[in-house]
Formats: sequence, C-alpha cells, structure tokens
Amino acid sequence: MQVIILENPEEVAQHASQWVVELITKKAKPVLGLATGSTPISLYKNLVKSHQEDQIDFSHVTSFNLDEYHNIDIANEQSYRVFMKNHLFDKINIDQKNTHLPTCTQNENPRVQGLAYEEKIKHAGGIDLQILGIGANGHIGFNEPTSSLRSKTRIKTLTQQTLQDNSRLFKADEYQPTMAMTMGISTILDAKYVLLMATGTNKATAVNDMITGPLSAICPASALQLHEHAIIVLDKAAASELANQEYFIWANEEHQKINKTYGFFL
Ligand code: GLP
Repeated sequence: MQVIILENPEEVAQHASQWVVELITKKAKPVLGLATGSTPISLYKNLVKSHQEDQIDFSHVTSFNLDEYHNIDIANEQSYRVFMKNHLFDKINIDQKNTHLPTCTQNENPRVQGLAYEEKIKHAGGIDLQILGIGANGHIGFNEPTSSLRSKTRIKTLTQQTLQDNSRLFKADEYQPTMAMTMGISTILDAKYVLLMATGTNKATAVNDMITGPLSAICPASALQLHEHAIIVLDKAAASELANQEYFIWANEEHQKINKTYGFFL
C-alpha cells in the first residue's frame, strides 16, 4: 500500500485529482471507477475545474460507479445517478452513454443485473483507476463487514450503522433504501489501480484497521492489502490512529520524487 498523509481534505482532493487527470490525459480509452459519498465531492469539484479552466477532455472516458440503491428511480434526487450528474457528469464533457451504475429495478433479477455489470466492465477492458471512500465500519462500496472477499457485483442489505451514517442525507419523511447493488470486493481488487480517499477523525479507526489490521471480512477495506497498486490518501485526522506516521510521510516524499520524473502509473 502507498499511504499518503496530507494536511487537510483539500490536499487529499488535489492529490486524487492529479491521478485522475494523468490517467485520462495519457490513456486513449481510460476507464474510471467512481464513488459517491461526501468524500469524493471535492475531487469532482477539482475535475470540473480542470475541465473548465485547463480544458481537460473527458469525451473519451468510460466510467463505472461502485454502487446504486436497489429499485430507485434514476430521476430520484437520492439516486447515485443524480448525485453523479450533479457533481460531475453534467459539468464535464463525458459522453453520458459511457457512464454506468449498477442499477436494478423491482422487476429485474439482481443476480442477472450483477453479472451483466461485471460483463460490461470486462467489455470496456477493465477499470484502470477505481476511486474509493471508506465507511466508518470499514466498508468499501456497499461491501459491508463480513462481505465475501471474493464477491462480485451483487445486491447487499445495508447495516444499521451505514443506514444511520447515511440518514443525514435523507429528509425526515423521505424513504431511505435499505438495499443496494454494489461492485464486490473482487471487482474492486480487479481494478488496475485503486485510490482510496479518507478524511476526518470518524474514519480513523477504519483507516487503521484497513492498513495495519488483519486481512479480514470484518473490515472489507483490509482486502486492499492484497492489491498490487493501492493508493491510500488521507488527511491528518483520518491518519490519526496510525502508528508509523513518520515512516509513511517520509516514504511518500521519496515516492513523490519518482512520480515527478516518471508519472504515477506504470
Ligand atoms: C457510502 C458509500 C461508500 C462511501 C462511504 C463513505 O455509504 N456506499 O462508497 O465510501 O459510504 O461515505 P462518506 O464519504 O460520505 O463518508
């Protein structure tokens, strides 16, 4: 794991956007894995800015989102499709036909839909860079604790903690879905690079478990220990429970010298 500890959430977003911009400017047909939640919003703001001010082109990008609520209308304000449109898709020149979310309506078989999503990712050539956040309980996507470490895209029932954490986004009288379609842990591990962003002290325990804890289904993010290219970008608050912070800071300074000369990717 490459653990990068930065001063604040703005620096985390800035660093993450450099990876995305390098990928889409260097690759002919880049495939981006995208995430929802509060954490990547500042990354998307930076990407919109780089499109508007530096003419960064997104017309050749294909994207796959990690997750979507089960049986939610794509026009529903709470859907992740609307979230992505509001924060990114409608503000850049991506071809919306090439943006994908793992949808599943009431009348569709979630198992068939999950398989179809996997096939779409494969058909696009696999995900080059998967953006991730982390839940306070260590989930990635909606892979809740005890998710199978070899899971693929499928339907999951959310935990009470996740429902509670996300309830802030719903009005008191608004229906909050309790199930979601999500890429599996294996789907995420298949991405060529993964970049996980975490900010704030409420993520500090999950971050420490992910990086230094045992590889365990109880902390789904710990599966990233198995990934060849996992980049973990943290602010100081999210890194606050980590031992060895000095080592990570020093190692990152050394890595940045290599990145400056050779870029981020292989
Ligand atoms: C959500 C999403 C995750 C996200 C996580 C943290 O439930 N399914 O993809 O990483 O929770 O969200 P936030 O960034 O708002 O803390």
